Amino acid sequence: MNKKIGTKILGTGSYFPSKVLTNADLEKMVDTSDEWISTRTGIKERRIASSGEYTSDLAYRASLEAIKSANVKLEEIDLVLVATITPDMFFPSTACFLQKKLGLNSVPAFDFSAACSGFIYGIATAKAFIESGLYKNVLLVGSEELSKITDWTDRNTCVLFGDGAGAMVLSASQDNDDVLSVFLGSDGSYADLLLIPGGGSINPATIETLNEKLHSIKMQGREVFKVAISKMAFAAQKALEISEKTIEDIKLFIPHQANMRIIEAVAKKLDISMDKVFVNIHKTGNISSATTITALDEAIKIGKLNKGDLVELIAFGGGFTWGATVLRV
Ligand code: ACO
Repeated sequence: MNKKIGTKILGTGSYFPSKVLTNADLEKMVDTSDEWISTRTGIKERRIASSGEYTSDLAYRASLEAIKSANVKLEEIDLVLVATITPDMFFPSTACFLQKKLGLNSVPAFDFSAACSGFIYGIATAKAFIESGLYKNVLLVGSEELSKITDWTDRNTCVLFGDGAGAMVLSASQDNDDVLSVFLGSDGSYADLLLIPGGGSINPATIETLNEKLHSIKMQGREVFKVAISKMAFAAQKALEISEKTIEDIKLFIPHQANMRIIEAVAKKLDISMDKVFVNIHKTGNISSATTITALDEAIKIGKLNKGDLVELIAFGGGFTWGATVLRV
């Protein structure tokens, strides 16, 4: 009898642009201070892509690293998935640009959007494709250039975001199931609290939409903050329940890096000690779909996670969307 197909995590990678934008730099751009940004968000600096460096370029660099760490041949990848809210263009998809840059001949490639929960949605998507038997080796990428959709005159948002990309190679396995659980949720009735209103079918680009700055992120920070804490805690609990694991079984929790105070509040709500929570927001800011995967990659590289350890990724973002997944690395 054929054994059920499981999903094995073969490797991860990440990439950040070289330019660093510090809180001191932001003090020269808007009415803010390092003290305000640090105490309200935990962010000290973030990476910013150059004008000729695109979301697919960051995705490409992260993918090469993930493919190398996975020890698979490039031509063995048979599906390319990219989570992003900052694509190179509306279409073609960033996944297609990435597929070309990687030289992957004719394999299917597409983008999807779940804002900051994108990578968790991507794990679910990759797992479903693999375990249905449709594809064997999936390259899953979260890549963002939020700097390109930020209003750099709006102090409420411009201090929060950064650029970067993370990637993972997942593969069909008869012996392993490294994705122990995934829990996803969304609620479109919160759409107005976190969005880019311009450029789509509701407000197609015009001189007016440009003048009104409708093509950059608008956010009701305080409301987002409250819902983020409750939904992230809820999702984390659900994914633990589905995996039949407890907080004690998990070596490291990697929450979406949007705000240090959100991370601390979620940990408190779940009664998780902060020394089991991975934080890198001080040097990255919020990079939406790329946060959990770049943090996971860093945790592996610096030895916070070793082969066989369990990790839980937890995310929340525009939509609203939320999700969590328990993984064996
Ligand atoms: N520097 C100085 N003062 C500022 C700044 C700034 N950069 N930004 C806002 N302020 C001021 C406000 O104007 C306000 O002043 P007022 O009281 O005179 O009106 C004061 O600081 C307090 O503002 P709040 O909005 O209440 O500040 P809060 O403590 O809520 O922090 C923040 C704001 C950091 C945005 C927080 O609400 C937050 O992190 N929200 C969640 C963001 C998030 O998680 N986004 C989700 C993902 S993003 C995605 O999906 C793409």
